[in-house]
Amino acid sequence: MNSLTALQKNVSLKSLNTFGIDAIAACYLEIHGIQDLESVYRDGSLRNMPRLILGGGSNLLLVSERFEGIVLRVVNKGIAVERDDGHAVYLRVAAGEKWHDFVMWTLANGYPGLENMSLIPGTVGAAPVQNIGAYGMELKDHFYSLRAFDFQTGQMVELDREDCAFSYRDSIFKHAMKDRLVITDLTFVLPKAWQPNVSYGDVAGTLKEKGISEPTAEQVSQAIIAIRQRKLPDPAVQGNAGSFFQNPTVTAEQMAALKAKYPNMPSYPQPDGRFRIAAGWLIDQCGWKGRQLGQAGVCATQALVLINCGDAKGSEIAGLAKAIQTDVQARFGLSLVPEPVFI
Ligand code: EPU
Repeated sequence: MNSLTALQKNVSLKSLNTFGIDAIAACYLEIHGIQDLESVYRDGSLRNMPRLILGGGSNLLLVSERFEGIVLRVVNKGIAVERDDGHAVYLRVAAGEKWHDFVMWTLANGYPGLENMSLIPGTVGAAPVQNIGAYGMELKDHFYSLRAFDFQTGQMVELDREDCAFSYRDSIFKHAMKDRLVITDLTFVLPKAWQPNVSYGDVAGTLKEKGISEPTAEQVSQAIIAIRQRKLPDPAVQGNAGSFFQNPTVTAEQMAALKAKYPNMPSYPQPDGRFRIAAGWLIDQCGWKGRQLGQAGVCATQALVLINCGDAKGSEIAGLAKAIQTDVQARFGLSLVPEPVFI
């Protein structure tokens, strides 16, 4: 069957983005495999349209009420052990798998290593785009390679960790390869020598409260799920896209000057000598926590998360973000960069 018979016109994206913003896509196609991508590529008019590659829609703000292009939603499934070299296991995962389901699969099958990234919303294929991370771990720490369809050449390509240029909440897929490559599957490497990583924030404390001193990977996962559920709103209940801003990075000199003025400002030293500052704290200090502008709001338990309080338009969320950026800039001289992609 020609894949393009499944092409739909004028599709609402409301249930396909975790903010729950209502916007219409002119064209929409679910991608089950490479053949679907090849069909789009072969059709000149579809190939040349603006493209939005969609996974779980958890890092997206639909600012325009209509997208005059084609949405390609990657929904392919499958997880398999690619190889086991005695030291590590290599897992190949389809881009359309849900990230959290994949993490649960690794734990159920005895492959620890990804537990600190439990409960992050979104799909496996979207995870490298912003190099997802939480509780002292980033995707890049266990990433091996990925395969993607290149809309410039119509060919499949394979990228290793270096090719992807991962950094904090960033990769080549937000820049040179934006909208050009459609990631179809990833390979992760999970070393067999495993150590729990509980050094971040309240992870160790949460385990201690339960009387656990030598946690298993499942116990670390459960602790992280509990922390996330306590702090972060469930997108199924209240529309949001997780952290709305990146934590800003400053030099050691800038940090010293800020600390002198604001001794309580939470900051994290980075391997390159710079410091990352908790954006949630900056927003909280500006009095935004729990506030609302129209139907757009700031979460009452974590000021870094913006929420859809009902039927917010994307432009209302963007307006609230702008107001917050202006206040943080005026008060601290720091500019906040949004995490989600604006469409
Ligand atoms: N804080 C406040 N007020 C707030 C929120 C935070 O004072 O309203 C303070 C906290 O007290 C703490 C500090 O800010 O001292 C940091 O807060 P938290 O531990 O919640 O982490 P974060 O830096 O705000 C980052 C990630 C999260 C990730 C957590 C845990 C970014 C932009 N966000 O948040 O990632 O889950 O660390 O690793 O790096 C996401 O990207 O969507 C996300 C949720």
